[in-house]
Amino acid sequence: MTIADKTVLVTGANRGIGQALVADALRRGARRVYAGTRQPLAHPDGRVTPLTLDVTNSAQIQAAAEQVDALDLLINNAGIWLYDDLSDRAMLEEHLAVNFYGPWGVTQAFLPLLTRSKGTIVNNVSLMALAALPLTPAYSISKAAVFSLTQSLRALLAGRGVQVHAVLTGPVDTDMTRGFDIPKASAASVARAILDGVEQGEEDIFPDPVSASMAEGWRSGVAKAFERQNAALAQAQPVTA
Ligand SMILES: NC(=O)c1ccc[n+]([C@@H]2O[C@H](COP(=O)([O-])OP(=O)(O)OC[C@H]3O[C@@H](n4cnc5c(N)ncnc54)[C@H](OP(=O)(O)O)[C@@H]3O)[C@@H](O)[C@H]2O)c1
Repeated sequence: MTIADKTVLVTGANRGIGQALVADALRRGARRVYAGTRQPLAHPDGRVTPLTLDVTNSAQIQAAAEQVDALDLLINNAGIWLYDDLSDRAMLEEHLAVNFYGPWGVTQAFLPLLTRSKGTIVNNVSLMALAALPLTPAYSISKAAVFSLTQSLRALLAGRGVQVHAVLTGPVDTDMTRGFDIPKASAASVARAILDGVEQGEEDIFPDPVSASMAEGWRSGVAKAFERQNAALAQAQPVTA
C-alpha cells in the first residue's frame, strides 16, 4: 500500500515513535491522520484529527470507532515499559492491558472499516518479543503475546484482504528508554522505516540498526517457516464474519 491519500490512525500519537509516525504519514501525503491520545492534542496540520483514546478503555475505543467513517491503516503503537521482577501480578496485568489487550481491542473495533478498505494493521511490537529482557520480563511477555496476536491476525485476515505487519523494534531514543545508556535510533528514522516497510509490503519490519541486523536471520529462519506452515492451515479454513 501507499500512504498518499490514505486515512491513518496512530495510537499513542502524542510523543515518541507515535508522534513521529503521524509526522511521517503527513509527509507521505496521507489524506487524514487520526491521532489517538489520552490527553487533548492540538496539531498544526489540518489533516490531523485528534481522538481521545486510552487503549485500555473499551468505551473510549468504541467512541473513537464511531467517529471514524473510513480507515486504511491502523497503527497500534501505544505502549508501556516498566521494570519488574515477575513478583507482582499487577505489573503483568498492567503490561498486558496496554500492550496486548490494547491492540486487540482497538483492532476489533476498527476491523469492519479495515475489512471494507482491504486495509492494513501495523503492530509496534519489540525485539523483546523474540527474546525476553529479564530486566523487563512483564513487558517482554506482553510483547511476545502481541507478536503472537499479530501472526494469528495475519493468517486469519488474509482472506479478507487485510494485511498485518509486526514491527520488531530495537532501541529507540524516546521517553521510554530515557536513562538506558545504549545506542538508540531516532524516532523519526524509525517511523520512516516502519512506513517504508508498510509501503514495500514487508510482513515483519525491522526499523533500526539493531533490529535490522536480525532481519535476514529471522526471515530465512525455522520460526518464520513454521509460522507460514501454520498460517496455511488457517487459510485453508473458510473465513467467518
Ligand atoms: N523506545 C523503544 O526503544 C522501543 C523499542 C521497542 C518497541 N517500542 C514500542 O514502541 C511503542 C512506542 O514507544 P515509544 O518509545 O514511543 O514510547 P513513549 O515515548 O513512552 O510513548 C508511549 C506512548 O504510548 C502512550 N500510551 C501509554 N499508555 C497508553 C494507554 N493506556 N492508552 C493510550 N496510549 C498510551 C503514551 O501516551 P501518554 O503520553 O498519555 O503516556 C505515549 O504516547 C511502544 O509500543 C513500545 O513498546 C519502543
